[in-house]
Amino acid sequence: MSSTFYPLHVAEVRRETDEAVSVLFDVPQDLASKFKFKPGQHLTIRQNIDNNEVRRNYSVCVSPHENALRIAIKQIPQGAFSTWANTVLTAGSTLDVMPPHGSFTWNFEASAKRRYVLFAGGSGITPILSLLKTGLAEEPESQFILLYGNRGSNSIMFLEEIAGLKNRYIGNFQVYHFLEDEEGEVDLFNGRLDKEKTLSVLESIVDPSEVDKFFICGPGPMMNAVEETLTAGNVPKNHIMVERFTTDTLSPKQLDAARDLQKQAAGKTVQVSLEGRKRSFVFDADKGSILENVGALGLPAPYACKAGVCATCRAKVISGKVEMKANYGLSEEEVEQGYVLTCQAVPMSDDVELDYDA
Ligand code: FES
Repeated sequence: MSSTFYPLHVAEVRRETDEAVSVLFDVPQDLASKFKFKPGQHLTIRQNIDNNEVRRNYSVCVSPHENALRIAIKQIPQGAFSTWANTVLTAGSTLDVMPPHGSFTWNFEASAKRRYVLFAGGSGITPILSLLKTGLAEEPESQFILLYGNRGSNSIMFLEEIAGLKNRYIGNFQVYHFLEDEEGEVDLFNGRLDKEKTLSVLESIVDPSEVDKFFICGPGPMMNAVEETLTAGNVPKNHIMVERFTTDTLSPKQLDAARDLQKQAAGKTVQVSLEGRKRSFVFDADKGSILENVGALGLPAPYACKAGVCATCRAKVISGKVEMKANYGLSEEEVEQGYVLTCQAVPMSDDVELDYDA
């Protein structure tokens, strides 16, 4: 994964709802291969706001076949970047952008005949829409059901586009909207996608035993509710893919465990490779993580959330033992392949070697 930021021109800032805009980037020809993406991936933006450098990750909301790079940004209360993007950012601006990455993606196959169920909540629709549009275009024999929760009808992002997909792919695609603050005639669609609602959905709309893949993205409580209901209903874990934007606060027990790990890691030697260069250091537990230690050396290690969610700080363990305090951003396959989130990682042996370029 490239850890370099590239200045990209903003071609369009389009208002999607009262609280959200989408941003279309102009990708110059010489950067086209670097900015190629898979459906569902996200990118990191770096921006100086009020003399503070902020970094944020946003999911791409288009499909690769659209030949465009567009993200959507929902304004959140006190959100420095999202507020700036919704109120100040205009076409013609330039943003520092890292090429798209992330494992919340899927390889659709033209000959496959599968059933997909996509749960989205609020701005969690962005990677889901990217996957949905790609799947509909690339897997014509497959079935897609979108279950999309929002507060009210005026906060539904991409409402018209989704309705257009429903008309275009009439035999392959069904969408159901769930609204928290508005009451419609059918009780099932009133209220949030909590455990009870998910259970009702599984009883009336979706037979989980017939579904090949569930994709989930939205607010934490919604994702937990859907994921827990699916696993309680014996859906195998490898049939469920989850993309988190935020994390739950760590419990006091988890915090204690994280501090313990840091203490054990103190004084261990670590070597990192970044952009072809190698550097060794002795782990300073007070700095917290390998990422913070690398940053203190002045190396441009990639990061965005620093909370174990976005996987921007991913590196591969080449040797030695490394533990993570938390991991919300790596898939099981990535962990098996030896990847760690360096913002959460601490060395547990003296021969740790990590490669950011792998
Ligand atoms: S910086 Fe986001 S997971 Fe490490």
